[in-house]
Amino acid sequence: MPAASPSAEDSKLACTPSSVSEEEKKNDAYLCRDALSMEKHVSGVYNTGIFEFTSPVMRDTLAHIQKEEQNHGEKLYNYLACNNMYS
Ligand SMILES: [Fe+2]
Repeated sequence: MPAASPSAEDSKLACTPSSVSEEEKKNDAYLCRDALSMEKHVSGVYNTGIFEFTSPVMRDTLAHIQKEEQNHGEKLYNYLACNNMYS
């Protein structure tokens, strides 16, 4: 059984509400939504790449990287949802 990636463990963090001003929250929301969109895009590109390789080692490597991208997205989503910024 493969070991969990470090980011998978980190993603189990509790909700941490932001304590910044409303204006700063708007900026945070903008940046986090943009970053989450990029994580979704990158994950999709890795997914397509996985199907393009014949080497099982390369496919597993790309799948691992894709999972890390999903974990990044999870952290961003959790922050946005925790602070009522996800819509
Ligand atoms: Fe990422």
